[in-house]
Amino acid sequence: MKSTAFTGLEAELKKRLSEERFAHSLRVAELAREIARANGLDPEKAYLAGLLHDLAKELPESELLRLAPPMNEVERAHPLVLHGRAGRVLAEALGVRDPEVLAAIEGHVVGVDPDFGLGMAVYIADLAEPGRGYNQDLAERALSGDLLGAYREAVRRKVAYLEERGIPVHPRTREVLARLAED
Ligand SMILES: [Fe+2]
Repeated sequence: MKSTAFTGLEAELKKRLSEERFAHSLRVAELAREIARANGLDPEKAYLAGLLHDLAKELPESELLRLAPPMNEVERAHPLVLHGRAGRVLAEALGVRDPEVLAAIEGHVVGVDPDFGLGMAVYIADLAEPGRGYNQDLAERALSGDLLGAYREAVRRKVAYLEERGIPVHPRTREVLARLAED
């Protein structure tokens, strides 16, 4: 079912993204909504955050740096990692006010604390939406109600992916990983 409440935002998103990434965003929104439903979270907030999570992903680096000035070495060396924080700024400019939705958009790149359900739902949906063709087990796990277990595995896989390619891991992601190891 399509949420008519988001039609204006969808149009704005479509202007900013390639067809492929727009389609990815819709799939993330839908999966995030289902994960939210399965875990007692607000499905419409999850849909909105999922829809807008990559709002800033296709901006030129100069724009990313302007909207989200880098705060550490990883961000300076890899400005694309700023697209979460820059996306939050753009979403606010589009009138999105819900702090959870904004925090989920910001956190989808580097991770969120393991007590932030909506953020975890969006993070997992981004990695496990059906168009990716992998991580389907994470979607199933989250949809069966094991949000934290799915999230822990999602963060581990993302870090492993980065490490295999020699891409530096963001300090915030290291922090999240350490918290997940404690839980
Ligand atoms: Fe993203």
